[in-house]
Amino acid sequence: MFNLERFDIKLSTEVIGRNFVYTDEIDSTNSFLLDKSNKFSTDGTVLLAEKQNKGKGRKDRIWYSTKEQNLTFSILITNKKYLGKNFNIINFATSLAIAISIENIYQLKTELKWPNDVLVKGKKIAGILLESTSQGNKIDRLVIGIGINVNQTLFQGNYKIMPTSVKLELKEPIDRERLLAELLNNFEEILDKVNTDPDEILKDWKLRCRLIGEKISISEGENIKYGIFDDLDNEGYLLLRNKGNIEKIHFGDVSIV
Ligand code: BTN
Repeated sequence: MFNLERFDIKLSTEVIGRNFVYTDEIDSTNSFLLDKSNKFSTDGTVLLAEKQNKGKGRKDRIWYSTKEQNLTFSILITNKKYLGKNFNIINFATSLAIAISIENIYQLKTELKWPNDVLVKGKKIAGILLESTSQGNKIDRLVIGIGINVNQTLFQGNYKIMPTSVKLELKEPIDRERLLAELLNNFEEILDKVNTDPDEILKDWKLRCRLIGEKISISEGENIKYGIFDDLDNEGYLLLRNKGNIEKIHFGDVSIV
């Protein structure tokens, strides 16, 4: 079971995770925080669930995670200074915070995959799902859902990218409380840069993205595009080079070819 006291001692944030909600089972932490009728609106609220019955991944995929083994949680952002911002940069800030936390504590080398996967040795260790709700034409809440494979060692089913976990890589049981606190501490610091220095977030993200300069394919449903991953533009979109033309890609699954 998650030890709230151990987590709390290590948390050094001002806002993120100060309102911490722990639950045994839920459909999806993202869906719960998105639903305004649940009356959670405190900026920085973190909802952690030991098990999700309808855990959501990107593109309507299912996020599988064994009960009490991993970290499946969502962060609610209601502070207006972030709601009007470019969500691509917030996505990068999140994956960067995960990568840095895993590197700091476990000395594992991480790679970032556009738009928002965290990999270790080519296998997926964490995924992020950003969702938002609006009031009129204004976004009024942003929910950042994070799934990190921590202590799970058996993965069954079909995966687009093979999964791994921190435990599988380190061959020892992992302290989830320490990892979550470290991650929220780093996240709060990096999130602040969304306003003060977004270019630094992009620069640090690119340093960990090994696909830039490589031949890639991008699939979006049935549609597959090929080219060189030229760069990211300053809004975080992927620039695909093909025969001298540059195309801006907004979403899709990237693979090396
Ligand atoms: C992906 O890589 O496809 C994104 C996975 C995001 C999973 C997390 S787990 C906590 C939060 N609640 C959800 O239903 N999904 C996200």
